[in-house]
Amino acid sequence: MNMQRRTAIAALIAAGLPVPAALAQGKIVLGFAQVGAESEWRTANTESIKSAAKEAGIELKFSDAQQKQENQIKAIRAFIAQKVDVIAFSPVVESGWGTVLREAKAAKIPVILADRAVNEKDDTLWVSFMGSDFVEEGRKAGRWLVEKMKGSTTPVNIVELQGTVGSAPAIDRKKGFEEIIKADPKFKIIRCQTGDFTRAKGKEVMEAFLKAEGKKINVLYAHNDDMAIGAIQAIEEAGMKPAKDITIISIDAVKGAFEAMIAGKLNVSVECSPLLGPQLMQAVKDIKAGKTLPKRIVTEEGIFPMEVAAKEFPSRKY
Ligand code: AHR
Repeated sequence: MNMQRRTAIAALIAAGLPVPAALAQGKIVLGFAQVGAESEWRTANTESIKSAAKEAGIELKFSDAQQKQENQIKAIRAFIAQKVDVIAFSPVVESGWGTVLREAKAAKIPVILADRAVNEKDDTLWVSFMGSDFVEEGRKAGRWLVEKMKGSTTPVNIVELQGTVGSAPAIDRKKGFEEIIKADPKFKIIRCQTGDFTRAKGKEVMEAFLKAEGKKINVLYAHNDDMAIGAIQAIEEAGMKPAKDITIISIDAVKGAFEAMIAGKLNVSVECSPLLGPQLMQAVKDIKAGKTLPKRIVTEEGIFPMEVAAKEFPSRKY
């Protein structure tokens, strides 16, 4: 038994407090503050984290913030009070984390950002940030559209379903997409509104877009597959053909998107992998072993147009 563990157990016994099983067994304890269960992607991400923790023999304290920053902050404070070994979280929005991250640092608990970044100048507040390059995902979506519309001079009216306001993927996917399409003035974003990464809101906002713009809409760019799937329903209910009357581009490449592509209702999905669990558990072990982690670990990802969907579907893991 190492000195730190022995001292912690002795202190608890001296104070007449129960010794947690994980501490008695010498298990690493990870506190994970998840965003919520807003999308198919998030469900797969949660599953990846839970199963990888089990596999790695790491005790996981898991909290679901239901897409509310105040819930995530509360969960992180609870992890600090419980003296977990490492805290990881996927920040629902980018800003407003300085205070709680400084509290974790003062308690000497290392923090890992999983999936999403924070907008804080002091990068000593976290050990590592692992996840996708969201700006590049937006660029991939933009490049696919530019290629599809190559050779045509007709104006292209785009409606954009944004992710959660203030979240890293919503900010970056917009930025990357605009960076590419701005090179050609025929592309115009005529409407842009948040659908909060959910199917229900994606449908609701698409209904409003259709009501306002109708047949003027040529392209839908959705920041995730769930919102695109919700929007597909709205397009069909409006008597139009998704992926034909309106070209649809989305992000994540979850199974639901593959099903929509195979059914001919979604044109393309840019991959964003939720399978961060094994990498996260390795990072937690490395931190405990005193190793230095890279400050940024970027996930490798592809892009899947509808033409390859049927072939790729059997090998998809989420
Ligand atoms: O942060 C990753 C994003 O969050 C996924 O693209 C989206 O589906 C999820 O809700």
